[in-house]
This record gives sequence, C-alpha cells and structure tokens, in this order.
Amino acid sequence: MSIKINNKYIKQFVSDEEYNAIVPEVEAALETVKKGTGAGSDFLGWYTRPVDYDKEEYARIKIAAKKIQGMCEAFIVIGIGGSYLGTRAALDFIKSNHYNNLPKDTPDIYFAGYSLSSSHLADILAVCETKDVCINVVSKSGTTTEPAVAFRVIREFLEDKYGKEEAAKRIFVTTDKSRGKLKELSDRNGYETFVIPDNIGGRYSVLTAVGLLPLAVAGVNTDSLLEGAEDAMNEYKAASVKDNPCLQYAAYRNIMYRKGKVTEMLVVYEPFFRMFCEWWKQLFGESEGKDGKGLLPASVIFSTDLHSLGQYIQEGLRNMFETVVDIKESKHTITVPDDPENADSLNYLSGMSFNRINHRAMNATLFAHVDGDVPNIVVEVPNRSEYSFGQLVYFFELSCAVSGYTLGVNPFNQPGVEAYKKNMFALLGKPDPALNELKKSLAERMSQD
Ligand code: PA5
Repeated sequence: MSIKINNKYIKQFVSDEEYNAIVPEVEAALETVKKGTGAGSDFLGWYTRPVDYDKEEYARIKIAAKKIQGMCEAFIVIGIGGSYLGTRAALDFIKSNHYNNLPKDTPDIYFAGYSLSSSHLADILAVCETKDVCINVVSKSGTTTEPAVAFRVIREFLEDKYGKEEAAKRIFVTTDKSRGKLKELSDRNGYETFVIPDNIGGRYSVLTAVGLLPLAVAGVNTDSLLEGAEDAMNEYKAASVKDNPCLQYAAYRNIMYRKGKVTEMLVVYEPFFRMFCEWWKQLFGESEGKDGKGLLPASVIFSTDLHSLGQYIQEGLRNMFETVVDIKESKHTITVPDDPENADSLNYLSGMSFNRINHRAMNATLFAHVDGDVPNIVVEVPNRSEYSFGQLVYFFELSCAVSGYTLGVNPFNQPGVEAYKKNMFALLGKPDPALNELKKSLAERMSQD
C-alpha cells in the first residue's frame, strides 16, 4: 500500500553517470532535513507532525467538528494559499469534487477569502442566506488581506443573522497561538481557536488544525489520514535512494532541471485531483522558486487537457518533463454498455470499465510523450483513501524539502509572497510607519501609469 516511483518512462533520458552523481546529493539533503542543519530549519515541524502533535487539541478538533456538524448546513472556510489549498485538495480527493451536491449527512463546505472578487463572496453569501452557517477563519499571520476582509464581511453576515453572541459560537479560528490581529480578535470575542504551530509554514500545514478541522466537519477520517502520513514518515526515513521513493523523485526532478527541463508538469487522469495540483504547485513553487532558480510547477488534467495543452506538450518547446500521478484503484466502476445496434461503432469497448479506458489513455499518452522527447516520472498511488492522501502529502512535502536543499535554496521561506503583501498594504494605505517609504515610491509609480 505504498507510493512507488515507476522510472520506466524516464530512465532512457538519464545516464548512469547523471543518476550516480546526484544520489549522494539527495541522500545528504535528507540528512540535512533529519538533523535540522539546513536553511529554514526552524520550519521543520511538519517532518515529525504525523506523531508529534498536541493530542488535547486534536481531541478538541473532533469535538468541535461534531458540534459544527450539528449546528450548520454550510461551513465556510476562509483562507488563502497554504491556509486553504490542502483542505480543498483533501476534500476533493477523499470525498468528491462534487461533495456539496452529493447526498450526505455532513455540512456543505464553501471556501472564501482566497480572492478579492466581490462576485465570489456575494455568491457564497447568497448560497448561505437560507442555511445555518458556521465558519472557520484560517490565517497563520492573521493579517493577510484576502481572508481578513472576507472575514469582516462574513462576520457581519453572521452577526446580522444570529446576533453577536450566537455568531461568536459559530466562528472557529485557526491561527498563531499568541500573535496577530486574528488571535486578538478571537480572544476579545470568545471564538474557539486552534493553533498553526510556529515551526510549520502555511504550505506544509494541511496535517495541522488547518486541514484537520474542516476535514473532520466533512466526515473525513482524520485518524486514517494521520496514519498514512505516519507510515510515510517512517518509510521515508530510509537513507538510501534505492529504498526511498521520495529521494528517487527528488533525484529525477533535479536531474531534469540541470538538463534544462525547467517546467515540471504534474499530470493526473482524474478531475478530483485538480485541487491537489493547486496544492502541489504552491508547495513546490513557493519552496523552490527563489534566488533565480527553480522548476516551474504546472499541471494538467488528462485526458481533458490532451484536447488543449496536449499539442504543446507533444510538439512545443522541449523544456519540460512530466510527473504522472497514477491512482491505481478507482472508487467507482462504470462500464461501457453493449448496444446491439452498434450505431456508434463502439462495441469494441462494450463491457470495458472507464477505469481501464482511462489507464489505456495514460499508457498511450506516456508512449506518445516519451516519443516526443518528454521524460515522464510516474508516481503510483494505491487509491484515493484518507490513508493514501496522508501518504501522498507527506511524500511530496519531504520530496520538496529534499529537492529544495539539492537545488541549493531554503525551501521554507517565501520572500516573494511577503513582497507582494507589503506592496498591497502600502497601496491600500495601511497605517504603518514602516510602510511610509514604500507608500511614497509606489504612489509615484502609480501616478506614472
Ligand atoms: O505558504 C505560505 O506560508 C503562504 O502561502 C501562506 O499560506 C499564505 O500567504 C496565507 O498566509 P496566512 O495563513 O498568514 O494568511
């Protein structure tokens, strides 16, 4: 039941010398993670997170989730970046990308605060108008503009609907344990709070209260999710590349990068994986894209995108490789029915499952893309259970840390994201003396537009 790397479609693009040269580098990078001796080592909390967490808080998460399930039909999760992507990825992967529309006895889950679109927010409020609502605001810093302003609007909506006192019982906050405006506001108004640990960055936080609370509300078995992550953690302690798929993945993608394949396309044949791709892009994009370096993480859902980007991948600029996530087992079996008239000439597929056809599409594409000079790494995942999700998250988190160190960057900071946030505060006129100089220079640039 483990994740495996199938190197059949990449090995012809990698010489023995290239592979043997990188092996000691990725093995050393893993040691750096384990010993906490690399850049950004203050943010290694995710490494032991599957076992090293506040058990009391976890029990409180489960109690809160039950309470929320009993109190509301709609649960709005407000957050951006690492404060919402992992949760969405898990919900789609484990439940369904049509979770809200399928029959269930758990609340609908809506996501807000990940854009500044008034239309998006207005639609969520309209959908929730006639429903009982609870919310979860998630922000590590407690100051990010998108979730902060969405929270203000949704808080007002709740207070109008229920009154201040009742609204407070419906607001759950996940933030820093002691710092930030959100924590202050929560303490002042008596909102129940959960903690994003200091040593876990946003994009590595899905296995904390960030993901666990909303996922428990949606009826996800969070114990099994953590168990998958724990087993992955133990498996990926293996120091040698030959026993460790995380190291194999990190090795291949760094070899590709050094050979000028600067775009990594994550490929999946399942629409329920779309949000996982978004989580993965944030993880690798923010972790590696710095100091003028890094693979560009992109993604496609096949076979859908074979009818759009497929052409480019087959014949465009030869600067990319693909990482195919092959989910072995499907939750559903639909077969092509037989039609005695065979008017559509499809009877050669009669009785064949969609899963088999999908896998044939995958094989066909792998052959075509390899023939078109696009190397392919295949990551094999057993199924779409909670357990597999936990494994997969941990697999990519650790591969990302190892890859980042192999690339020579700090995989745990995100100065680029901070730069945009500062500019935005300055342009919106946030009263903060530290922004005065920036405000002046940006005002000048705006006037030149
Ligand atoms: O990975 C990160 O640290 C960032 O992408 C954050 O998750 C994102 O900027 C949201 O920040 P916050 O949770 O502080 O609102």
